[in-house]
Amino acid sequence: MYNNEQTQHLQEETIVLLQQAQHGNMTTNSLELLRDILRFHEYRYYVISNPLIADGEYDTLYKALEKIEQEYPDMVTPDSPTQRVARGLIKDFPKVQHLVPMLSLDNSYNAEDLLDFDRKARELSGLSEIEYCVEPKFDGASISLIYENDMLLRGATRGDGVTGDDITINIRQIRSVPLSARFSGYHIQQIEIRGEVLMSKDNFAAYNDMQEEMGLERLANPRNAAAGSLRIKDPKEVSRRNLEAFLYNVSDVTLQTGAEQPESLKTHSGTLQMLWELGFRSPQQEKRVFRGIQDVIRYCEEFEMQRDHLPYEIDGMVVKVNQLEIQDRMGMTSHHPRWAIAFKFKARQGTSRLTGVEFQVGRTGAITPVAKIEPVNVGGVTVGSISIHNEDYIREKNLQLGDTVLIERSGDVIPQVVKSFPELRNGTERPIIFPVTCPVCGHLLVKTEDEAVWRCNNSNNCEAQIVERIIHFNSKDAMDIRGFGDAIVRKLYTLGLLKDIPGIYTLPFDTIKGLEGFGTRSVANMQAAIEASKKQPLYRLLYALGIRFVGENTSKVLANRISNLYELKGYSVENLQELEDIGPKVAGSIYQFFHNEQNLELLMRLEALGLQFNNTKKDLATGGNFTGQTFLFTGTLHKLKRTEAEALVEQNGGKIVGSVSSKLNYLVVGEDAGSKLEKAKKIETVKIINENEFLQMADPAHAAG
Ligand code: IVH
Repeated sequence: MYNNEQTQHLQEETIVLLQQAQHGNMTTNSLELLRDILRFHEYRYYVISNPLIADGEYDTLYKALEKIEQEYPDMVTPDSPTQRVARGLIKDFPKVQHLVPMLSLDNSYNAEDLLDFDRKARELSGLSEIEYCVEPKFDGASISLIYENDMLLRGATRGDGVTGDDITINIRQIRSVPLSARFSGYHIQQIEIRGEVLMSKDNFAAYNDMQEEMGLERLANPRNAAAGSLRIKDPKEVSRRNLEAFLYNVSDVTLQTGAEQPESLKTHSGTLQMLWELGFRSPQQEKRVFRGIQDVIRYCEEFEMQRDHLPYEIDGMVVKVNQLEIQDRMGMTSHHPRWAIAFKFKARQGTSRLTGVEFQVGRTGAITPVAKIEPVNVGGVTVGSISIHNEDYIREKNLQLGDTVLIERSGDVIPQVVKSFPELRNGTERPIIFPVTCPVCGHLLVKTEDEAVWRCNNSNNCEAQIVERIIHFNSKDAMDIRGFGDAIVRKLYTLGLLKDIPGIYTLPFDTIKGLEGFGTRSVANMQAAIEASKKQPLYRLLYALGIRFVGENTSKVLANRISNLYELKGYSVENLQELEDIGPKVAGSIYQFFHNEQNLELLMRLEALGLQFNNTKKDLATGGNFTGQTFLFTGTLHKLKRTEAEALVEQNGGKIVGSVSSKLNYLVVGEDAGSKLEKAKKIETVKIINENEFLQMADPAHAAG
């Protein structure tokens, strides 16, 4: 989409415009450039997942554009990045007819089915060997988009295949879908393209965590999440769900009058390439073209093994005849095209029996029922217990003790109960009774009207909650105290050696050294990690405190506002709501936390123990000098330990990646570097630097010596 020269040019212009924006001296002269630059950064972020600027910098430019457009409304264009946002609610989604019916796909489940498909395809086409294009089968909700004269005209759901719902406003909230694209460069006047809207596994998990935290309903799986999201009548909510779209098929094209068929429209792989060039997320990098079916089979089987490592769900591969002319010749049934077939991966489902339910108490007092099932292998993983979330969920799924249940595991997503089989009951089943008192401390449980969960409010005396809070405090995204995970916390708590969070910093190490299962070395490491955690930046401490509804992002927003933690005592609920992304519920919870005697005492004790309450480098929290950049280390470093170097990258907003690829920005080379260096030399875009250069980049003021 953007070649090196264009990328460099746009990045240089970005820096110029950022300076102008910061000084508030931007004019309408920069309007088009500003839009181009924002589109460029949207592409870097949402399409190729390789941003070049910090989120805050993008926001600065976006706000500058909004400001100019507000002053000069006549100059707003429908494909301006500001025009994704829609205010108000959608009444109804009008019905629209697809230009070409949206068919389904025929399915295959093994190599034999594919051989069969190939045999028929050769017969139908009259060819002795066929060229195939193979790509992932995305597991989301299908959509159809029409672009006319380079502008996104309409987006629709599949519906019954002939008519769907017009969801254009919601489609505009998906930032990897360009609002305009230069189809005219291919002499295309109008085009209908098909694709799939997905919610990534990470986003899905984060969304559900938040829902659970808020006492709201969880979404069942990423596929339902995507389908449901597209039908929401509040576009702002759609935008918040961070949906993604893969576009994989061109279903209809009208060329400009007199234009000749462009080369790209002769093969399926050509259309994917064209879509990619135009800034769409097509499966350009995942697709492969093969002659004959044998390599197709091999690729499908290989890809199945990668399935768990992908950031989104796929449920198989799609094999398509590559030449579009041959596709036309082969035609379709009323149900599916004859030129394509889905290769379905093995289902990750299993049936088992629900033998018991355990009620667990979380750090905020929420009671979670966990079903015990007879261990069952679900796609290679043994599942023996499974969260059944809350009372409403148990009712909806009609679960009883002794029931046969269907279990599904989708990717990295935690196993779920799909349903029970009431028809298999024999009369020995018993209802699941929710406790009325906390299973750990015996306190009476409460439930507010707007929540699905029961809670134990005895937060300061309920042992389960105290232990869970300590575990959260130590966890990777919080204070990151390595070697001090949940098993050790539980053990030290049971032995009476650790009573609360401040107790982490006054542990009797001499006693611990003598305990069974604690080696001298591991205790020393743990002690060092605890000591080092005192210097963790403020946003981590804020997150570690476990304030309800305050996740990592909110912690960063808060930390960026203050110079010292105690300043938050002075914020009213209204002040808090003025901050980015903080609604009444979150604001209320923060206010309460900082106006509770016991919490203030906790803070005083932590401060006295030497934890970092000041914000030394405000901007580190949301993005330092490495924001959006990826790093990898190879060979022996001399000034830093590997872990320290990696921590430095993360503190500065960068990311560590596992291997050399075109996604890597910097390879930091120490002594005796090996194959990674050789590989990196072959990739033009990877910058190779030494330890000193790295230190210089990380902290220019202190790198010397
Ligand atoms: S091609 C005319 N390619 O799978 C055939 N479909 O189970 C057009 N799907 O309805 C479909 N990934 O929603 C095609 N790479 C891919 C796909 C894909 C997912 C969906 C699509 C289709 C369903 C059939």
